[in-house]
Amino acid sequence: MLNDTTAEGTSSEERGAGEGRNGLPSSSPLTPDPSPLLKDQLHDGDCLRLFPRVPDGSVDLIFADPPFNIGYDYDIYDDRKDAQAYLDWTLAWGREVVRVLKPDGTFWLAIGDEFAAELKVLFHRELGLSLRNWVVWYYTFGVHCTKKFTRSHAHLFYFVRDPKRFTFNDQAIRVPSARQLVYFDARANPKGRLPDDTWILRPQNVPDGFAPEGDTWYIPRVCGTFKERAGWHGCQMPEQLLGRIIRSCSNPGDLVLDPFGGSGTTLATAKKLHRHFLGFELSPDYAAAIRRRLESARPGQPLEGGPEPTVGGDANGSTGAKPRRPRAKSR
Ligand SMILES: C[S@@+](CC[C@H](N)C(=O)[O-])C[C@H]1O[C@@H](n2cnc3c(N)ncnc32)[C@H](O)[C@@H]1O
Repeated sequence: MLNDTTAEGTSSEERGAGEGRNGLPSSSPLTPDPSPLLKDQLHDGDCLRLFPRVPDGSVDLIFADPPFNIGYDYDIYDDRKDAQAYLDWTLAWGREVVRVLKPDGTFWLAIGDEFAAELKVLFHRELGLSLRNWVVWYYTFGVHCTKKFTRSHAHLFYFVRDPKRFTFNDQAIRVPSARQLVYFDARANPKGRLPDDTWILRPQNVPDGFAPEGDTWYIPRVCGTFKERAGWHGCQMPEQLLGRIIRSCSNPGDLVLDPFGGSGTTLATAKKLHRHFLGFELSPDYAAAIRRRLESARPGQPLEGGPEPTVGGDANGSTGAKPRRPRAKSR
């Protein structure tokens, strides 16, 4: 079992002696540290060094939003690897994902166009996970292109270890159906319906297609001008997006792991939703900022961003709420 701690946000330096700023060995070989990692903490260092300290079959849900290998400007990570090196690296941390997942565990992967097809094959064919959904997260305000169409989506792969045994809390994420909201049809299921597998973040850009009360998700990207924006990480994902994933694919008290912490969205959202969490982040500066974010997040606190139009709502959602907000730099 992983250790419990209530002292979330306390610093835990996970880089060993002889380790360089990029989290990799700088001189002498490192002695592997066999002690299990503390739960409810962000651990800074290379996920490949930290994963071995997570016991087999101990994690309920993993969300990974790795660098997309598109030359994005991170502070220390070099996002321009040779394609084969990137795939080899993905296979290495992917093996760890599969090892630490519980037999009924779930894995979500966010990835861009460049490696989506190869990573889908890698996690399904090579690592044996079952794909339940290939979700397309649609957003606008991507980086404007002049010689091709502007990118307005990312891929979210929803995998499980066992296609017959997994957590899926449909009641936690149902949305009102058009039958209920538009046609007031008495035959409509009062519990609403499950969301589609295309997630819309800017319904105001297509007003005729996506009415505010419709059954699509209203989860804008976290843009520079948003109150939610932490301001120090260009890849910050919206808490509402992680909220849907965490609510549907885990239960309160479960353990959620994110090997690529970034701005800490997964961890902060997990904490607000009463889940245990475990996070890794290579950059010491990002890691320090994540800890600050985690210190101010409280269990039960509402998620940032416009609430989803969930049926019945819950502590962090309300029925029929309107969306709000705009833009951000695309990866
Ligand atoms: C795309 S960002 C994650 C963004 C995150 N989902 C959020 O909402 O803020 C990827 C992060 O992975 C980190 N990273 C890169 N290589 C890593 C490694 N080997 N181990 C741990 N973190 C790594 C980068 O520093 C970067 O912050």
